[in-house]
Amino acid sequence: PTPVRVALLGCGTVGSEVARLLTEEAAEFTARAGAPVELAGIAVRRPDKHPELPADLLTSDVEGLIASDVDVVVELVGGIEPARSWLLTALRSGKSVVTANKALLADCSRELSEAADASGADLYYEAAVAGAIPLVRPLRESLAGDRITRVMGIVNGTTNYILSAMDSTGAGYVDTLEEASNLGYAEADPTADVDGYDAASKAAILASLAFHTRIAASDVYREGIGSVSAADVAAAKMIGRTVKLLAICERVVGPDGSESVSVRVHPVMIPRSHQLAGVGGAFNAVYVEADGAGELMFFGQGAGGAPTASAVLGDLVDVARNRAGGGRGPRESAHAGLGVRPMGET
Ligand code: HSE
Repeated sequence: PTPVRVALLGCGTVGSEVARLLTEEAAEFTARAGAPVELAGIAVRRPDKHPELPADLLTSDVEGLIASDVDVVVELVGGIEPARSWLLTALRSGKSVVTANKALLADCSRELSEAADASGADLYYEAAVAGAIPLVRPLRESLAGDRITRVMGIVNGTTNYILSAMDSTGAGYVDTLEEASNLGYAEADPTADVDGYDAASKAAILASLAFHTRIAASDVYREGIGSVSAADVAAAKMIGRTVKLLAICERVVGPDGSESVSVRVHPVMIPRSHQLAGVGGAFNAVYVEADGAGELMFFGQGAGGAPTASAVLGDLVDVARNRAGGGRGPRESAHAGLGVRPMGET
């Protein structure tokens, strides 16, 4: 079978793990995908800073790599531009995209999925929400026949790590944040984590999939953990509670019977007996409630190199299978005009 050629954009914590596994376990990936999955190039800002990677694969010319003979672009750079332009170029020329870029998906998912639909390319982004935990597939595929009413949980590992440490040891905020960064959980700019932007992007993606609509990050009410003090955490403890940063996405029925979607991210004092109270460290946990399925809970490692690479590689195998089999992955329903609007929008 014809090899599926992969361009990797970005080689940080997650990208280096993806590159390592694709290289070391090439035979495994070939067997799983039904065609050889070949790493064709790795775009990084400074090739000379990556002596650990094969020099013949490294380039700083992202556009050139995308335009070359590759089938799939794996984007692990983050941020809106230039990632948006790169991925639109790839999708428009029929190249499939696997991305972990939550900020981009939260703001531009309509544009990206329309470009994918127009050319018949695949757009996969399991790694954009909650690291290793499958959430995009369950919402986009498994539960597509059900009516989801609520998605709620802990979707940021860095803040959960900080809040859990503040709760258990009374540790200071700054030291704990540094630890989270060293473990590869925090974003390059940790304000995205502590101010709730990262969680808001993830909430927007989850709500868009769950409710067959388009919710942007700017539709999400957002409060970070910057104002949560050691005294707040201690007070919560005294009344049998703990502080968690929650993302809550729910259907809201107005007095006239019309439905809208409320999406918010903010710290919540939850009872210590609640299942989410026991979710510590960089773990994430998300509840989904649906009419038919009832309550589902997803739990696992929401951040870090290996867990996030697991989700990226799962997407990559799926894309490679689709290519090898001449098919295409799941489409999304939102652009068909289905769904409910964000609250406050008429
Ligand atoms: N900075 C993110 C977190 C990484 O802490 O959850 C995973 O998206």
